[in-house]
Amino acid sequence: MKSFDPSSMHVRDLHSLLLGAIGPRPIALASTISKEGVPNLSPFSFFNVFSANPPILIFSPARRGADNTTKHTYENIKEVPEVVINIVNYDITHQMVLSSANFEKGINEIEKVGFTSLDSDLIKPKRIKESPVQFECTVNQVIELGDGPAAGNLIFAEVLKIHVHENILNEQNKIDQQKIKLVGRMGGDTYVNAFGDCLYDIKRPNDDNIGFDHLPKDIRLSKILSGNDLALLANESSIPDETDVNEYKLLDLSSLFMQHEENAPLLEIALHNHAKDLISKGNINDAWKTLLAFNN
Ligand SMILES: Cc1cc2nc3c(=O)[nH]c(=O)nc-3n(C[C@H](O)[C@H](O)[C@H](O)COP(=O)(O)O)c2cc1C
Repeated sequence: MKSFDPSSMHVRDLHSLLLGAIGPRPIALASTISKEGVPNLSPFSFFNVFSANPPILIFSPARRGADNTTKHTYENIKEVPEVVINIVNYDITHQMVLSSANFEKGINEIEKVGFTSLDSDLIKPKRIKESPVQFECTVNQVIELGDGPAAGNLIFAEVLKIHVHENILNEQNKIDQQKIKLVGRMGGDTYVNAFGDCLYDIKRPNDDNIGFDHLPKDIRLSKILSGNDLALLANESSIPDETDVNEYKLLDLSSLFMQHEENAPLLEIALHNHAKDLISKGNINDAWKTLLAFNN
């Protein structure tokens, strides 16, 4: 393992190490307005939701690494403490990237990148019609984290109103995770599409799960089962009893036992492989019976 000391690194390398490791990051397309009324639009992936009550989103327009100047988004917010955070999805990725160009202050960036602006209901900055979810926010706090190049500026944006395109909502008014087609920012110029085959569900853990500490040693130290496999086994509330294991051994595992009758190590490997296969199909109970059958 290689270790790095942030205090002795060039800020450019530190920035790249941090962003390479922390991802995918959601992208806020922040719409602000100057005191003269000129709209500004820029993407920020130092962004997330931090509270639902009150509803608080935070993003960070950092000081520019090259010349330590502040970004127009930050300056606008200091002048007019309001922002529309438009969520970025696949359909607007390239226009979003275009909006990150260093346009001169005073340029209407919404027009420049071809988005359609909509009036907000409660604040001055415009909404982006093409964005699937638009949060009208008031800025109730700004925390400057430093005064050197790349220092972050945390913008605490309290959500006043949320606009959602109806075509991404299901009947319960929840956002359909396949339909919203979210994208995330990774390290460098890499992005990820968070839809299609890459989405999967993991159920919440059982509060009375048996835990890794109660896994039998031969299972916990398996060369075949991964940490993910073991976690699924450890999430069970109880393990099958001896009668169930014996019945399963007789009905479902007899061919494996016969095949490796003379060779216990090979039998153990075969049983662990079989259990792994069952786990991958979500059949955790039979996986447990398979593993326990070895010592029964
Ligand atoms: C996907 C993406 C994410 C970005 N995230 C950030 C960020 O979190 N913080 C930041 O300071 N700059 C970020 N940038 C760069 C700014 O968008 C860029 O500096 C922009 O020109 C700032 O515009 P402004 O001066 O009009 O505010 C990001 C750029 C892209 C394309």
